This record gives sequence, structure tokens and C-alpha cells, in this order.
Amino acid sequence: MLRLDTRFLPDFGEALRQNAPRLLEARSALLARKGEPGAMLGWLDLPEDTETLRLIRRYREANPWVEDFVHIGIGGSALGPKALEAAFGDGRVRFHFVDHVEPEPLRALLGRLDPGKTLVNVVSKSGATAETLAAFLLFLRWLEEALGEGWRRHVAVTTDPQKGPLRAFAEREGLASFPIPQEVGGRFSVLSPVGLLPLAFAGVDLEALLAGARKANAQAQGPLEEALPLHTALLQDLHRERPISVFMVYSERLKHLPFWFVQLHSESLGKRDREGRRVGTTALPALGPQDQHAQVQLFREGPPDKLIALVIPEHPVEDLEIPKAEGLEAAAYLQGKTFHRLLRAEAEATYQALAEADQRVYALYLERVDPYGVGWLLQHLMWQTALLGELWGVNAFDQPGVELGKALTRALLG
Ligand code: PA5
Repeated sequence: MLRLDTRFLPDFGEALRQNAPRLLEARSALLARKGEPGAMLGWLDLPEDTETLRLIRRYREANPWVEDFVHIGIGGSALGPKALEAAFGDGRVRFHFVDHVEPEPLRALLGRLDPGKTLVNVVSKSGATAETLAAFLLFLRWLEEALGEGWRRHVAVTTDPQKGPLRAFAEREGLASFPIPQEVGGRFSVLSPVGLLPLAFAGVDLEALLAGARKANAQAQGPLEEALPLHTALLQDLHRERPISVFMVYSERLKHLPFWFVQLHSESLGKRDREGRRVGTTALPALGPQDQHAQVQLFREGPPDKLIALVIPEHPVEDLEIPKAEGLEAAAYLQGKTFHRLLRAEAEATYQALAEADQRVYALYLERVDPYGVGWLLQHLMWQTALLGELWGVNAFDQPGVELGKALTRALLG
């Protein structure tokens, strides 16, 4: 269950009524393009894709020997699985996300791994991203040197179903491979094999994750009063003159999620609109309670230039009591309370303090930090982003600035 709270934005109900035609039009325009080649709306259908789930399951079962899982990919090909593995991985397989090209950590990682127990999963929609290819070449040589012809069993490729260098390579070498559907772009791909394959090895409940995402799909297409993504898209739209959009999550398990959101929001919406104007707000990641001892100072007393979305878990999956102890009177008020109660109190205190400081703030209450709730949240945020693209007149599914960076890197390397 995902619940929106706007108690500190008293005019929001009226704004929702006034903006209903715009919001419904944006949703219709988006859905009207579904199925059009190049519309990049394939992410809407991923939660229903049981066939891919079956293939992934089968592959996981056929490879029980894996002890270390090296996930090579960057941006949309890494941030989602990284966030979800950290949140829900059962720890039986060790995960290593290689989304960088710094030699020292690469060397250190190779030094720690046993090639005979390692699966190298290379993930790239284009199959041509420099960082990913460079790291893949390194791991490929490492496997070949250690395992000879046996290296093939230790590589999985997740890429475009038809095109690109990695697809051709996987086919030529007869490697295990998984498709990122053509109509699914990098940052909208977490529920495709980009996320599902690593998460199957992490022991995550994939059905629950997808069921949660289906719930977001149903809500988004329901009546306006219940269509939560339309509400949060409007909140972002109404505050677009506030240049900073903070995404603050009160969950240690979800500590990487803000970075997934930052990519989704920034890469989708920070660009020129149809009239050529530069639009977008700057997404800022924050984590509670840690940032209460860091960024919240700025949020409280710095410029009132922010819209802050708080993600607050309502209930723990498993709580823990703060023990009693003699001789530490300063902690007496904590003793006997639960850790979740403390976390919730911290979140509520921040919520109130930020509202009083003239920052615009709303909360998304997540019933529990579990795969169902987080699947719902992820799909909700993808809807929010796609709808904002409509409202702001930008194509949320391209990334010309990122592509230019890739081209310039290639050029600099000759
Ligand atoms: O969202 C996007 O499209 C990008 O962030 C890509 O995911 C990123 O650039 C990596 O691209 P690729 O998956 O083609 O290697």
C-alpha cells in the first residue's frame, strides 16, 4: 500500500480539481502512444510479463553453483538492481556492481573473486557503452585465463533483443542471454531482466515486486481521485519554480533508491521542451535519519527553493525493542520503545519541521519496506516521471545529453 499525504499543502485538493483536465489529458496522450514503435512505453507491460520471469527462474535454478555475482552495467542498467539487491537480497550470493571504470577497485575485486564460482552478468541496452564494455573485456579475459573454454557458462548477457554488439557477441558465442524489450529504455528497465535476473540470484520475491508494480499500473489508470501518480506529478508540476526536488527516504534498506530516482527524474525531464526552452528540476537524494544530521540543516534554514518528497515506512517488517539499562538516564525516554517507533518519530519530526520552514513537503507512506510495496513505489515513480514529461512538453524517454557524452568519450579515445 502506498499512500500520499499532503497535510502541509492545504490547497492541494483544490489544485487537483482545477488541474483535472490537464492531468487526464496528459494521461490520455501518454496512453494513446502505447504500442507505437519508438514511444518507449514498454515499461508499462513489464509487470505482466510472466514468460520472462519463468525463463529467469529456470536460469537461476540451473546455476546453483554461483557464489559471487558480478553485475556490469551503468545508469539505468545498474541503479535499480543495486537498490533492490541492497534492500531485499538474502545474502546467499555476494553481489558486486561494476558501474565505474576506476582501476584500483577493479583490481581489488578481481583479486577477491574465485572465477569458478563467479557469474559475470553484463547489462547494456545499447551494447556499446564504454564503461560497461571496458569492464566486460576485463572480466572476460579473467574468466578465459582461468577457465579456458569453460568461461561461457560464467557469462550472462542482458541487452537489446536484436541489435547491438553485445547481442551479436552473445549469439556468436552461444551465451545465456536475456532481452531488454526494444520499447523499454534504460532508466525504465528495472522490472525487465535488467533487474529481475540479478534479483533472482539475490533471492528476492519477484512475484511480489511485479504484483506491486501492477497495483501502481491499475491505480494510475483508475479514476482521478485514486490515480496517485497523477497527484504526485501535479505536486511536482505545481512546484516547478522551486528548482530542487528532494527525494528523501526513511529506510536504511532503501539507501540506494534515491539515486535510482535521481537518474529517472533528471535524465527524463532535464532537457529542452518542444519550444526549445531548457526545463527540469534538480533531483537531490537524501536519506533519513542520516540526513537529519547533515542536509536537513540546509533544508530547514537554507533558501526556500525545494519541493521535498519524503518516503516513510508505516510499519516494520520485523521490529526490535530498544533495551533498558541502568545508569544511562539520558536514554531513559528511548528504553522500551521500538526502533521503528523511533524511526517514525524522526520522520514525522522532519516532516513537520520542513513544512514550518517554508519548504514545500509531502509524504509517500509505504505500508512496509517489502518487495510488494517497493515494486508499487518504483512503478508509481515511473508513471510520475512519464506524466511530467507530458505536462512539461519534453520527451521523457530520450537522453540526448547523455548520448552526446558517450559520443565525446568515444571520440576522445579515437
Ligand atoms: O536511462 C538510460 O537510458 C541511460 O542511463 C542508460 O541506462 C545508460 O546510459 C547505460 O546505457 P546502456 O544500457 O545502453 O549501456
